[in-house]
Amino acid sequence: MTDTLDIALPKGRLGEKVAALLGSAGLESDIGEDSRKLVFESADGSARFFWVKPADVPIYVERGAADIGVAGRDILVEQDADVYELLDLGLGKCRMCVAGYPGATERAGTLRVATKFPNIATRHFRSRGRTIDIIKLNGSIELAPILGLADVIVDIVETGTTLRENNLVVLEEVLPISARLIANKASFRFKHERVEKVAAALAGIIN
Ligand code: PRP
Repeated sequence: MTDTLDIALPKGRLGEKVAALLGSAGLESDIGEDSRKLVFESADGSARFFWVKPADVPIYVERGAADIGVAGRDILVEQDADVYELLDLGLGKCRMCVAGYPGATERAGTLRVATKFPNIATRHFRSRGRTIDIIKLNGSIELAPILGLADVIVDIVETGTTLRENNLVVLEEVLPISARLIANKASFRFKHERVEKVAAALAGIIN
């Protein structure tokens, strides 16, 4: 069992893409065929995959419940995860942005900022010497400025459709984002060959 490589995948479209990449890299499985099952074994029995809520992947990897995993840079930076980042998978590309109505950051005084990413938002505005009041939300962040709950939001922009359809605009770019292959620090040492092999196979497919 200890020789098995445990891989935490973010449940959803990104995780399915990565599972397909891992299949091409030699770790085929029937992952995705049973929608409620959470643990899958590779056909050769050398690896196990777990479907994990995307924001929880760094926790599984940091604590060694998984040897490696895939997480967005947004989540890694927000949680300041103590893991090794092995590879930029170039998937799930988007941007963390400050957004709101045009000119919203120009108002004087404390800026009310709605976000799912309080640490990233705090760091960004601190670097600009701006005093803010964080309003932590869990989704539909764009509603906050519309309803006057916040002056601006710090959120992910992918296609820009959500902002456009709600008459909001990007005001500042905070961070470019993409999915990263991460490793538990002890696993990277003790399962080095296997971890490197998966990373190299994925890198080969991506490039
Ligand atoms: C994300 C993000 C934006 C939207 C950006 O929300 O928080 O709302 O996608 O994508 P776009 O630029 O392509 O429109 P998600 O769909 O994860 O739902 P949420 O509102 O529950 O966070």
